[in-house]
Amino acid sequence: MRESIQTVRGTRDILPAESPRWQAVEALAREAFAAYGYQEIRTPIFEHTELFRRAVGEGTDIVGKEMYTFIDRGERSLTLRPEGTASVVRSYNEHSLGQGESGAAKLYYLGPMFRYERPQAGRFRQFHQAGAEAIGFAQPAADAEAVALLHRLLRSAGLSGLSVSLNSVGCAECRPAYTERLVGHLRGLEGRLSEESRQRLGQNPLRVLDSKLPQDVEATARAPKTWNFLCTECSAHFAAVNRLLSELGIPFELNARLVRGLDYYTRTVFEIQAQALGAQNAVAGGGRYDRLVGEFGGHDRPAVGFAVGLERLLSLLEAQGVDPARRPAVEVFVAALGDAAWGEGFRQLEALRAEGLRALMDLQQGRSMKSQFKQAAASGARLTLVLGEEELARGMAGLKDMRQQQQESLPLAGLAAEIRRRLAAV
Ligand code: HAM
Repeated sequence: MRESIQTVRGTRDILPAESPRWQAVEALAREAFAAYGYQEIRTPIFEHTELFRRAVGEGTDIVGKEMYTFIDRGERSLTLRPEGTASVVRSYNEHSLGQGESGAAKLYYLGPMFRYERPQAGRFRQFHQAGAEAIGFAQPAADAEAVALLHRLLRSAGLSGLSVSLNSVGCAECRPAYTERLVGHLRGLEGRLSEESRQRLGQNPLRVLDSKLPQDVEATARAPKTWNFLCTECSAHFAAVNRLLSELGIPFELNARLVRGLDYYTRTVFEIQAQALGAQNAVAGGGRYDRLVGEFGGHDRPAVGFAVGLERLLSLLEAQGVDPARRPAVEVFVAALGDAAWGEGFRQLEALRAEGLRALMDLQQGRSMKSQFKQAAASGARLTLVLGEEELARGMAGLKDMRQQQQESLPLAGLAAEIRRRLAAV
């Protein structure tokens, strides 16, 4: 009998049983992108090798050791795309996709990417991304909007326990001074760094901060922080992104070690991780790249974008017991006792829906609290908003966690947004 041929290492079949979950997250991604004014672009799976060399950068792991590069029958060097940004920028320039004076274009993509990485949990050689690129946007609000979109997309798939990390890698003006200080600092610790990091120190020192090896993490714990070296403009931009994200109610943490594995970034960089056993890898990452479009022969067009790894998103959802093809029909149940409370409940119900939440209330007034709690439990809602006349008079309402069976008191003002935030955090 002849030996059977199986999938190539690092690749996998998406089988019929999994397809509904893939379709569900793809549909949610498309919905989220559309809500923020993005249009789909589909670029070829392979491009001239030069495109990725120049965009992603010679000194990166991706270009240095992870690209699927081959010579075709016409003697051209081609590469299976390791990421989407370079292709989108190429296409944007090639077809003059920018609108108006700023050259604005909001483009999204879904599809396979290829990297010759060592396969392990959550890491494949063919994987899929959903990505978005906003080209022609200089304002810090564009960075905040990109993070907000990413956050919303992941939340709408049902992913919880999200943590957003944020950093600024500065610009061509301020980064050299930072890099110099970093190299100076790291040279003093060279003996404690890994072999790989010692090599990186000479070629691409920022990348040393990216190392996950415990000895490097320890050695670089006191490394200078980028945000202390930003020029006035980069510093103001970073402060504005921080402020806008806080105003949007998106929790984030500053992470001075976050430098990302691609060379095109300027200013803002971000990653999102989600709690799940053993998962240290980011589910999504992105940032600003103000020079890339100009470097590819177009006008200077500031831009910002991100990509979500769909395999990672789906495996995190599975670890959290969430099936994106079956989002709970009800997330919040509103229970109210008394006429005034019922009226307030009815208003809160709409406010919750305006926050994108699935909310339900007994439209028949006058049922007992006991009966409403029964309905709440049967609905599968994670939280129940409890409105009683007495609390209402004090401008407060109760919020009951249905799994932990605990209730706390919260102010009515801004309550729907607070409930959205809480659901995002559980
Ligand atoms: P990236 O961080 O290299 O960024 O990849 C984004 C996401 O793709 C990662 O967070 C991860 O979820 C997923 N991913 C990457 N490599 C693998 C792999 N080998 N196996 C499974 N999943 C993987 C970019 O690609 C940038 N183009 C993002 C961007 C867009 N920046 C600006 N615009």
